[in-house]
Amino acid sequence: MSLHRISVIGTGYLGATHAAGMAELGHEVIGVDSDPARIGALAEGRVPFHEPGLPELLAKHVASGRLQFTTSLKEAAERADTHFICVGTPQGPDGAADVSHIHAVIDQLVPMLTTPTLIVGKSTVPVGTAQALMERIARIAKPGVEVDLAWNPEFLREGYAVKDTLHPNRLVIGATTPDAEWTLRDLYQGPIAEGVPVVVTDLPTSELVKVAANAFLATKISFINSMAELCEATGADVTLLADALGHDERIGRRFLNSGLGFGGGCLPKDIRALVARADELGRPESVRFLRDMDEINQRRRDRIVEMAAASVGSFRGVKIAVLGASFKPDSDDVRDSPALDVAIRLQEAGAFVTIYDPAANLTARAIAPTLRFAANALTACRKADLVLHLTEWAEFGELDPAAVGDVVRRKVLIDARNALDVHRWQDADWVVHAPGRSLDALDKHAERVSRDGGHRHVHDAKMPEGCEATTRRSPQEISDDGRAQPTEA
Ligand code: UGA
Repeated sequence: MSLHRISVIGTGYLGATHAAGMAELGHEVIGVDSDPARIGALAEGRVPFHEPGLPELLAKHVASGRLQFTTSLKEAAERADTHFICVGTPQGPDGAADVSHIHAVIDQLVPMLTTPTLIVGKSTVPVGTAQALMERIARIAKPGVEVDLAWNPEFLREGYAVKDTLHPNRLVIGATTPDAEWTLRDLYQGPIAEGVPVVVTDLPTSELVKVAANAFLATKISFINSMAELCEATGADVTLLADALGHDERIGRRFLNSGLGFGGGCLPKDIRALVARADELGRPESVRFLRDMDEINQRRRDRIVEMAAASVGSFRGVKIAVLGASFKPDSDDVRDSPALDVAIRLQEAGAFVTIYDPAANLTARAIAPTLRFAANALTACRKADLVLHLTEWAEFGELDPAAVGDVVRRKVLIDARNALDVHRWQDADWVVHAPGRSLDALDKHAERVSRDGGHRHVHDAKMPEGCEATTRRSPQEISDDGRAQPTEA
């Protein structure tokens, strides 16, 4: 592998992690952002958001001198010969992705280039963007200076960004020249030598892979949430349904966790952008189903508010403790967070809401300053009439139901993420509700098992040989996305 001098333009979740990751892979990296506060923090080795493992990696490479930061695109143009574009493509008013930040970078950067250069897009863009950028680059590049463009979409998950950057599950390289492909293969020689598969494609395929992957994941989540609606209508249990479905390797258990649905800066935005792009392409029918996925997902938030209303009657004067504000655990990101959305709606309906999130209190307060924030879960729950579990941080799974029971006014819990061991809470005399689960029925069944077989709960009952109780999970069954998985058959 040769040492490459690269720039990473845009230092949000994606860019900051990519910059540190590329330094770890042995390259000389300069990170560029127009926000001086962000660049100031990163240059001092401080990560301005919560991402496990990133502060250590950043500090290591700022100290080694392999990773530097600047607000000057000119400096990056002079120092690097490969430029990764990691700027945001936010949702526009009609749902389409706004690519104006990418255009602005290209328009400034390209005329400053004086030597052969590769520009690599990593931002999530509507299919067709790269082709249009190639034409734009050809128009504005200095005569005689070769500027090539490749697309290399990013699949990292917040909370696992460092791992996903250094050990991705695949590398997708959209390239139109052998040189561009070779440069990217050389840049990623570390992961490629570990056996990470490389898929080389044309530009439109590489753009589409990214949004198609997110659309598929969103569909999987909405599918199980639509089943949760049927479970509620029939008395079936969606968590057992997901476990049973997941044992089929063609389906798989991951991303079949039902509850409050998906949020964040990617899945909701990307399905809407794909719908908008299909409209522009004259193929609205191809992804019409994604509108349904979006609706099913939005209904999850309504459902949890409904369940809260059903357990307290009127919200006026009722005190509700909300556990979790971020859109998922191990993140302080509250963009389109289902948890924060529900908390705000409950407050608007008249409840006194106190919220606690292990990392997102500050980011949530910036959006919802009138909510009350607590320094820990027990303080949030003090004198509560209802406790809502809205983001499945590991520390909420470790709460002692008896200790929480000592501080609340009423022991009523809604596990909106279907992630807690509800039987532990029921054993401590909590009334527990969970979307897509009929816990009363489950408890009656458990009592029957208890009477017949001397066991308290169905998951403790001795199963016939060859069967396994999938409601009780050992630590090994917890996947790296922090959710319980069924054991392999
Ligand atoms: C997502 C993709 O998973 C990444 O592969 C992709 O690179 C990234 O978007 C991106 O486009 O940059 P991320 O937004 O970090 O990653 O979050 P996910 O782990 O996908 O979770 C998204 C939402 O779905 C969360 O609100 C989570 O709580 C919810 N979810 C996830 C469920 O409701 N059920 C599940 O089974 C899994």
